[in-house]
Amino acid sequence: MPALVLLGAQWGDEGKGKATDLLGGSVDYVVRYQGGNNAGHTVVVGDQKYALHLLPSGILSPGCTPVIGNGVVVDPSVLFSELNGLNDRGVDTSKLLISGNAHVITPYNVTVDKVTERFLGKRKIGTTGRGIGPTYADKINRVGIRIQDLYDESILTQKVEAALDGKNQLLTKVFNRRAIEVGQVVEELLSYADRLKPYVADTVLVLNQALEQDKVVLFEGGQGTLLDIDHGTYPFVTSSNPTAGGACTGAGVGPTKISRVIGILKAYTTRVGSGPFPTELFDEDGEALRRIGGERGVTTGRDRRCGWFDAVIARYATRVNGLTDFFLTKLDVLTGWEQIPVCVAYEIDGERVEELPYSQTDFHHAKPVYEYLPGWSEDITKAKSFSDLPKNAQDYVKALEEMSGAPISAIGVGPGRDETIEINSFL
Ligand code: IMP
Repeated sequence: MPALVLLGAQWGDEGKGKATDLLGGSVDYVVRYQGGNNAGHTVVVGDQKYALHLLPSGILSPGCTPVIGNGVVVDPSVLFSELNGLNDRGVDTSKLLISGNAHVITPYNVTVDKVTERFLGKRKIGTTGRGIGPTYADKINRVGIRIQDLYDESILTQKVEAALDGKNQLLTKVFNRRAIEVGQVVEELLSYADRLKPYVADTVLVLNQALEQDKVVLFEGGQGTLLDIDHGTYPFVTSSNPTAGGACTGAGVGPTKISRVIGILKAYTTRVGSGPFPTELFDEDGEALRRIGGERGVTTGRDRRCGWFDAVIARYATRVNGLTDFFLTKLDVLTGWEQIPVCVAYEIDGERVEELPYSQTDFHHAKPVYEYLPGWSEDITKAKSFSDLPKNAQDYVKALEEMSGAPISAIGVGPGRDETIEINSFL
């Protein structure tokens, strides 16, 4: 059963878009299973660069059906502007399917996200401000609005009333903001219904039938393992499960159907927003990684925090996701360093720790223990096979593989679609 999960093995932004798109040509369905327009994929096709936030990156492959699963939160206005942008550039988006059970990011969820962050002050999470957390909170509180609710005005009105009851108290009495009107929200949500309609489908049924017919289904995670609400650096995380299990709940496909779980692993580390990051660099090396790697958020435009590769995190990602393979990205960014530090363990209160500490307090105190690997200066962007890489680059990859606990089956050596070395096929 060719069901693959592709997910970020670090804090997101590992270059998943490129990996998904690379597979897109041979994949029948590309499914997003969690998150919303907080994600950001940059996909380069020819001389065209596409920035996608909500849509699965398979939308750029003509033979592929892109699916937004039930676990995703959808902001319809963002969806439409993303579709319009692609249509203007001649991309056919008519095959898109959206689960009727996916929750809608309403305007009040966006307001609550921004107001809450402001209220938290220096304790803020550094969210993308897109309403993601509050929408998932409404889902869990059972006051969420689902796509299917847009087709029953009476139910929609009741649900918006229920959701706003408490929120308006909070907005007016705690945050000193104006109350949000039910009628206005309902009107805005209803205005999306007609355009959404052709895309709405029972995606659970579609995907399971596809798997029965031996179609290739790729589940594409947004964000990354360390941003997972359960397995990440809580509370500095997103509000969903980017880890492999999220693909099952967020798309309605059983774990027995998943044949391969591929972790996208950047050859160094980045993170956006607040929270612990043991290998973070505050010197010219960090600045160089940011500049050479173009480490600026696709969604937020914020500079990403940059640091050396952290093998402790990679091992953790292998464990919590049951990774079968890694796709190592952005190896070319490391060209030019005489030696490259790699974090192999942490030192916590004077003790060497090999695995990710269970306690948040410990993780906040973790200091990286580095091993220094010899660098290379040759241009590697034209390398087509592993043996084309300079010896030191080969050794760097082999060392990462050994430390991380799963085989590296592909290596990204440049931003373009074809600048990838495939070692083992994913299919
Ligand atoms: P939220 O997902 O907007 O609630 O933000 C929660 C945390 O996840 C913040 O630290 C964000 O910067 C981070 N985050 C959300 N989406 C992404 C992503 O696609 N890449 C990297 N970080 C992300």
